[in-house]
Amino acid sequence: MLWKDKYELGVLLIDTQHKELFKRVEAFLQTLRSSASWDEKVQKVNETLEFMKSYVVEHFHDEEVYQKSIGYPNYEEHKKIHKEMVDYVLQVSDEYERSGFNEQLMQQFAGKLLAWLINHVASEDQRIASYAIEKGVAGDE
Ligand SMILES: [Fe+2]
Ligand SMILES: [Fe+2]
Repeated sequence: MLWKDKYELGVLLIDTQHKELFKRVEAFLQTLRSSASWDEKVQKVNETLEFMKSYVVEHFHDEEVYQKSIGYPNYEEHKKIHKEMVDYVLQVSDEYERSGFNEQLMQQFAGKLLAWLINHVASEDQRIASYAIEKGVAGDE
């Protein structure tokens, strides 16, 4: 598991979603990199991709609602980063469908997705927690 407890923000909903995202992205990579043939795994890959597309949107939304609730000053900037990621995911997904489920495309995408997730959760999302602590609005649980 690539998840680390130090990634926690101390907000139950957000932390739960982050853990779920890590779990799903790792499972996605495992499926992609298993020794089974592409024909055997393409269906599972597609299902996972569909799940992540909606889950990512849901998570970003919930995280933005939390940011607003604590008056996070980098809300707009953070929202823009989220939107760019959603656009990227949808663009790759479109390309993938148009290509007739090209394996190479998904392999590259999965690696990028994992790198993005780790980097974003470990840095950008952590800034929300730092602000909450600094302002004394941390710990809504
Ligand atoms: Fe997040
Ligand atoms: Fe975020």
